[in-house]
Amino acid sequence: MPVLADIAELAVCPPDTPQADIGLVRDAALAWDAAGRVVYAGPQSGLPQTLRNAPTTSAEGRTVVPGLVDAHTHLAFGGDRAGEFTARLLGAEYLALARQGGGIASTVRATREASEEELYDRARTALDRMLALGVTTVEAKSGYGLNLPDEVKTLRVYQRLAREGPQRIVPTCLGAHIVPPEFADNREGYLRLLEDEIIPAVAQGGLARFFDGFVEDTAFSPGEARRLFAAARRHGLVPKLHADQLTDTSGAALAVEVGAASADHLECISEDGIAAMAASNVVAVSLPIATLVLGVEPLPARRLIDAGVPVAVATDFNPGSAPSLDLHLAAWLACTRQRMTPHEVLKGLTAFAAKALLLDDVGSLLPGFRADFAVLDAPSVEAWLYGFRPQTVVQTAIGGQTVFRRLAPPGS
Ligand code: NIG
Ligand code: FE
Repeated sequence: MPVLADIAELAVCPPDTPQADIGLVRDAALAWDAAGRVVYAGPQSGLPQTLRNAPTTSAEGRTVVPGLVDAHTHLAFGGDRAGEFTARLLGAEYLALARQGGGIASTVRATREASEEELYDRARTALDRMLALGVTTVEAKSGYGLNLPDEVKTLRVYQRLAREGPQRIVPTCLGAHIVPPEFADNREGYLRLLEDEIIPAVAQGGLARFFDGFVEDTAFSPGEARRLFAAARRHGLVPKLHADQLTDTSGAALAVEVGAASADHLECISEDGIAAMAASNVVAVSLPIATLVLGVEPLPARRLIDAGVPVAVATDFNPGSAPSLDLHLAAWLACTRQRMTPHEVLKGLTAFAAKALLLDDVGSLLPGFRADFAVLDAPSVEAWLYGFRPQTVVQTAIGGQTVFRRLAPPGS
């Protein structure tokens, strides 16, 4: 049973404790079994006798955290939106561009044109970069296909990536991203296509765990979303929402009503929304890169945490509102713009992110969990997220197997 010793700070991240509790152990050791499950995570001085002669490597006084879980990405898409970025910088508004057929609709065109192989290659590259950031589990949404063949094409890419590993991929069908242009005058037709064809086919093919809906003026009304979530439920898919991102549409309350695993974005959540979430099991997923790119006020993380709502932090990696897959950047923004402490953020990148995906074997290093971990070139979690120093992950392991190692750790 391999042992990792000489850990300055080990964050175990218990899943069922408050946001700020990362189960910190100083001068720690971590051990796992041949099946890649944690068997010991605690003080090095308390290492059981049976592990004292086990093969041991040294963390050399670094910090060890659970493998990071990116609980919200739009991983596979065609094209890019660099031209639109320039237009936005010159004053065009995100929703105005969307109304003119830009925004999400332009990525829908590019994704439909892309072959499955192209989508795979780009997503593969993104996942490899994420490994170097310590990211071991990735939620991946479709939602740029928006017809049966292209939704299935995207989700098949995720199925292949999941099969190949090393990361765990959690697929979500975001069929309710927008009403695609060919249904602009026939919303009912698109709702029926989702209910009668896309949702059943995705569920039958085992292509997704979740069904996501964007509840917003330019996307779906709460009533439409409610109807689609009911269809998704009938087929065994669990709801997730893009909620209260650009306007307050009572998305948080809808997430609670439909028993969603998470409500994501929430920049415009109301006090009633916070109260509803506090009385539920719905995880709030904060996406601070999108908040920054769209230039809106951050979600009220402090009020959510004080109310007892678990807050996960994810990238929202997509070509429009969050063109970065850097979960470390999202973490730092969650500290600096949302006033979350480094410990609270780490919990949101691990145990609470796993909760948003209904996973109970990752996101923590308690005995029995998978030995997915990242070794950080920092003396503490606080030091890791205090300044934005790139390339601080020096090793990433999944099920105890090293899947990334940085040969020359950067200077400070
Ligand atoms: O999470 N809010 C809707 N969907 C994405 C944006 C996708 C895009 O702009 O392409 C989001 O921000
Ligand atoms: Fe998103």
